[in-house]
Amino acid sequence: MDVPKFLELILRWAHVFAGIIWIGHLYFFNFVNVPFQGTIDKETKKKVNPFLLPRALWWFRWGAMITFLSGLGLFWKVYLSDGLLRDADGGMSDRAMWILFGMLLGTVMWFNVWFIIWPAQQKLIAWTRDGLAPPEQPALARKALLASRTNTYLSGPMLFGMLAGAAHYPSMQFGAFGIAVALGVFAIFSAIGHSKKVGQSI
Ligand code: HEM
Repeated sequence: MDVPKFLELILRWAHVFAGIIWIGHLYFFNFVNVPFQGTIDKETKKKVNPFLLPRALWWFRWGAMITFLSGLGLFWKVYLSDGLLRDADGGMSDRAMWILFGMLLGTVMWFNVWFIIWPAQQKLIAWTRDGLAPPEQPALARKALLASRTNTYLSGPMLFGMLAGAAHYPSMQFGAFGIAVALGVFAIFSAIGHSKKVGQSI
């Protein structure tokens, strides 16, 4: 058995496993919970949200953290230690350009989770639990939703960066990059549009 390669496989697996947990919950929030919250009254919110949301947010933020840390580990192994950051001619490799693009978006998303969405939700959920509606509540709710929507839109192109970077499309050209970004954003745009209509009957 090639032990270093196998350890890399385990790291890669942990990265994708945690990524599924993170992005799965992000999509639950954006494609299921946002339209659902629009259909329930204040009393139901008070009964449901302080119990449901902290659980979902736990998986969400720790999924983000493990994805981020394992991603940095993969970057160190593949690009810095194994040297794939550079081509034979010394310039940055196409593969590195794809992964750095994906990592940039993923890092912005991780930042939004830990420094915008989670701190805002801690307050918003506590207010719902205590039946409070302070004046700053609507602005904070909008800020959290904006960060969450931003992450949802970034996730489409980000995943292209991850997959192309993992050598499934190891050349970087302007056309392919543009199509990847447009398709990634369009997929999210249409999923958000559908989320307002689908699944309302059995
Ligand atoms: C948060 C910041 C992130 C960083 C720093 C990061 C970094 C990386 C790195 C360095 C690789 C290896 C690429 C290679 O082998 O050349 C990778 C692969 C990958 N990442 Fe990420 N990533 C991040 C977020 C995510 C997220 C949110 C997902 C969502 C599921 C994700 C899914 C993947 C997938 C599917 C692969 C390819 C696995 C394969 O085909 O071997 N990553 N990532």
